[in-house]
Amino acid sequence: MTRPDDHVIVLFGATGDLAKRKLLPGLFHLARTGLLPDGYRIVGSSTPRSALSDDAFRKHARDAVATFGLSEPSGQAWESFEASLSFGAADPDNPQPLLAAVRAAEESLGGQPRRLFHLAIPPAAFEATIAMLGDTGLAENAKVIVEKPFGTDLASARELNETIHTVFDESRVFRIDHFLGKESVENILALRFGNGLFEPIWNREHISHVQIDVPETLGIEGRARFYEGTGAFRDMIVTHLIQVLGIVAMEPPSTLDAQPLRDEKSKVFEALRPIEPAHVVRGQYVGYHDEPGVAPDSHTETFAALRLEVDNGRWAGVPFYLRSGKNLAQRREVITLGLREPPLRMFRTDIPKRVRDHGNKIVIDFGDPGWIAADFLAKEPGPAMLLGPARMAFHYENAFNQAHGLEGYERLILDAMLGDQSLFTRSDGIERVWEVSVPLLESPPPPQPYDPGSWGPEPAITELIAPHRWYLPDDYKA
Ligand code: BG6
Repeated sequence: MTRPDDHVIVLFGATGDLAKRKLLPGLFHLARTGLLPDGYRIVGSSTPRSALSDDAFRKHARDAVATFGLSEPSGQAWESFEASLSFGAADPDNPQPLLAAVRAAEESLGGQPRRLFHLAIPPAAFEATIAMLGDTGLAENAKVIVEKPFGTDLASARELNETIHTVFDESRVFRIDHFLGKESVENILALRFGNGLFEPIWNREHISHVQIDVPETLGIEGRARFYEGTGAFRDMIVTHLIQVLGIVAMEPPSTLDAQPLRDEKSKVFEALRPIEPAHVVRGQYVGYHDEPGVAPDSHTETFAALRLEVDNGRWAGVPFYLRSGKNLAQRREVITLGLREPPLRMFRTDIPKRVRDHGNKIVIDFGDPGWIAADFLAKEPGPAMLLGPARMAFHYENAFNQAHGLEGYERLILDAMLGDQSLFTRSDGIERVWEVSVPLLESPPPPQPYDPGSWGPEPAITELIAPHRWYLPDDYKA
């Protein structure tokens, strides 16, 4: 395993939610497992208003790791990680504290460490922060990780790309989508392209429809300021689910290097048909208006389900159904490929619909640690030819050595340090996704109410997917 060159990592938004939940615990896990470079320093940054002293930042990091990390912040590993942390506030008008902190970190490492900036900040702050990195010279010898949402529509995404490209060329830009860093999402490539059992059937001849279903039980968790301007379509569908669709639907890349892999993903987005508003269900959970910070007449959707079409030789006529929403019945991350049913005439007795619905599908659960199953029909023991539901399953947690597993963010931050862009979104890819979203964004259907704990607004979601049905809730019983 190649280790990255020495790095100074700067976390913008170091006192925010993402840094606390994912980035600081993730960096500590990378350090503890020996995957960070030999020489590294982590500089936290924020606006002067929420600036911390070095010591306060170390305490903040310790609390974050204790609450959200995989291992305790203690022992030698923690001490050396803690010693690498410092803080430098930055404001486009006064970048001095950050400049001083980065300089001190670089001097303590010696040599010519590289710089990695992680922009875990609200989209409204991207432009000024990028300009500051350019003006101060901090952008030299540096790469930048940009958090989602990447724009809110085609015009803003183009503008954001232009702004970034004035300071960083595309080879140094890492638009992050933590779903693509999940082991089980990358495993789709292994499953699809490494196996004679699956590779030949991954097309319209054998697959009748695809579902990418990511319900969440969480509400908006006090993020009204972010969520009101975003909504489920931008927060989850554009950012995560369509990116996963790119992996499910792509043609085999010649290698897994960044260029061929991202070319193939972009070709899928090229083939996406514009999203028709009539193929979209927007929902809002009952009680959303009572959340602090939500406008009483808000039309922001907390749920979106839609039907997409990838209009190319492999997928023409195969609908892709995507669904995600807050405050739903379960938290799951599931891709289901419905297989075409063979003629079942020889099984003379009627097969109950519940049983038929169960068979003939491939299920990929990409929640950590994830599992994959092939659902089929088998003969029930006994004198009659009765068919029952059966499953062949692979579970990550019972296979391989889990100790080497990395969480999405960890994997992607490591890739960014190594300069590997394979799992990051390219500018043309994200712009195309916004382009196909234009009809929906111009004429969004009104959000329909749904009850917290349900699966979304009925009967709209059932009608959207007919003649198929949503495979969640998963009623499989072995
Ligand atoms: C984030 C969204 O990108 O992904 C959140 O902003 C969502 O709204 C989250 O809850 C889901 O990711 P995970 O990995 O926590 O399931």
